[in-house]
Amino acid sequence: MNKFLETMGDSDKMAPKVKSIYVCSECGFESAKWYGKCPGCGQWNTMNEEIKESISAKSSLISARPTLHRPMRIDEISAEEEARYHTGLTELDRVLGGGIVKGSLILISGEPGIGKSTILLQICEFLGKSLRILYVSGEESGRQIKLRAARLGVHSENLYILTETDVQNVVEQIRSDQPDLVMVDSIQTMNFTDLNSSPGSVTQVRECTNTLMRAAKALEIPILLVGHVNKDGAIAGPKVLEHIVDAVLYFEGDRQMTYRILRAVKTVMALQMRSVCLIWGTTGFTKWTTPHWLCWPAGLFMSLGLVSPV
Ligand SMILES: Nc1ncnc2c1ncn2[C@@H]1O[C@H](COP(=O)(O)OP(=O)(O)OP(=O)(O)O)[C@@H](O)[C@H]1O
Ligand SMILES: [Mg+2]
Ligand SMILES: [Zn+2]
Repeated sequence: MNKFLETMGDSDKMAPKVKSIYVCSECGFESAKWYGKCPGCGQWNTMNEEIKESISAKSSLISARPTLHRPMRIDEISAEEEARYHTGLTELDRVLGGGIVKGSLILISGEPGIGKSTILLQICEFLGKSLRILYVSGEESGRQIKLRAARLGVHSENLYILTETDVQNVVEQIRSDQPDLVMVDSIQTMNFTDLNSSPGSVTQVRECTNTLMRAAKALEIPILLVGHVNKDGAIAGPKVLEHIVDAVLYFEGDRQMTYRILRAVKTVMALQMRSVCLIWGTTGFTKWTTPHWLCWPAGLFMSLGLVSPV
């Protein structure tokens, strides 16, 4: 082989080129050049520079797959209805299409302060009576979570708190503990160490979600994932994740008001729209209504005083 080419090859291997690309934080659209308005979703100022990951990082991701599946004859596959956990909140179960399906990855997203962490802990109070729950927080300390739990009256003995941001450590913990249910708050704080991009970037958020998805499916443990909605485009939005996860619940409403709407834009059964109206009390959500006609425009009716929120 030509000596020059041989040396070129070696130096190429030793110093892989770091290429940067522009990725839309709303929809994940990628481009070599920057656009003020994303050609993918039409949003303004959502294109951020990210590092295009090298092949070596990608190949380590492939090896991180948890298990190898073998093909199954179709008559070996059970067609029984999927096992579901009931959350204790009938309306939430309805929005989820009948409860939390084992092995599913459910995204709960909404703006800061809308009540994502609160609803997760409130679910723990009921589910914790019969299930072991692992609550992973990359945002808050164990003490902060304990204080919120005390405020909400959540005293489950089966609730375990893990403060961790390394997604591979989280999966390792899930694998060794084998809890019945996992909650991850939030996906934007999770980090895949083999990637160079910063936590919250589209590349990180996608890879961390894929890692959790593989774990949920392989271990048949459902994972509830919190995702922030961020208008300034600095972190990846939930649209980027919608196609990866099994179900998506959006929190809507104003954090100053006494009600919030939880809208399912994607469920495990099919793509459909279901909503539930949640009433915010002094200690978390206090009431859940079945507002077929109220879902939208619930806010309008309530703000006009035509419907009482309690
Ligand atoms: N210590 C507290 N005492 C009383 N109310 C609180 C307290 N902490 C939070 N809240 C209320 O609970 C609401 C929901 O908070 P929560 O932390 O569940 O929201 P979140 O969607 O998880 O927010 P973030 O995106 O910031 O994590 C807040 O809007 C606030 O009104
Ligand atoms: Mg929170
Ligand atoms: Zn876009």
